[in-house]
Amino acid sequence: MRIDIITLFPEFFNSFFKHSILDRAQQKGLVELYYHNLRDYSRNKQKSVDDYQYGGDAGMVLTIQPIDDCISMLKKERKYDEIIYLTPQGETLNQETCNWLSLKNNIILLCGHYKGIDQRIRDNLITKEISIGDYVLTGGEIAAGVVADSIIRLIPGVISNETSALSDSFQDNLLSHPIYTRPENYKGWRVPKILTSGNKKMIENWKEEQIIRITKNKRPDLFDKKAKN
Ligand code: 6GU
Repeated sequence: MRIDIITLFPEFFNSFFKHSILDRAQQKGLVELYYHNLRDYSRNKQKSVDDYQYGGDAGMVLTIQPIDDCISMLKKERKYDEIIYLTPQGETLNQETCNWLSLKNNIILLCGHYKGIDQRIRDNLITKEISIGDYVLTGGEIAAGVVADSIIRLIPGVISNETSALSDSFQDNLLSHPIYTRPENYKGWRVPKILTSGNKKMIENWKEEQIIRITKNKRPDLFDKKAKN
């Protein structure tokens, strides 16, 4: 999979994707990430990429030309499955959308800033708008990072034990059971006895009960959704 991120702050992503699983996914060639600085596509001397908005409200808007030029340049090289604009007005990201995006070959993530981007980019070039929740961020970069992370980890081979991405919280709209590691006893804080019993059947039953208990308790909305399916 190839992900092209269009942004005013490409340096933001240098550290974001340079750790652990996401770094290894790139080393292994499972994902290619490219960052495009919008300012490089400005055609004026001042390298400006924004302008005042029609209608008189305060706040700058990213202009059409640099974004259009950048997207056109990319589209000339290859076909894109989705051109995504990160905005609080978008569809809220969920695991289903992550799964769907992880099957794509080439996607573009466009990060807005200031008041946002000229509506005509959205009307003519964007194929999908995604939000990462009902709150407002200063720009789309963190959201683009969230989207990319959530889909890269689903690409086969990125997580060494492939079953571990599938047994995630949310993969079936349920939360995970509690997990423990050694030591069995830390200052009197003990691991539930059943997990050290060696009885596989009972351990599986326990996990299932915990998943239901925790989901009902912490996210009754998810549990109700699950019950309806
Ligand atoms: Cl995608 N962008 C911005 N600026 N704020 C957000 C968001 C995106 N998702 C939630 N808040």
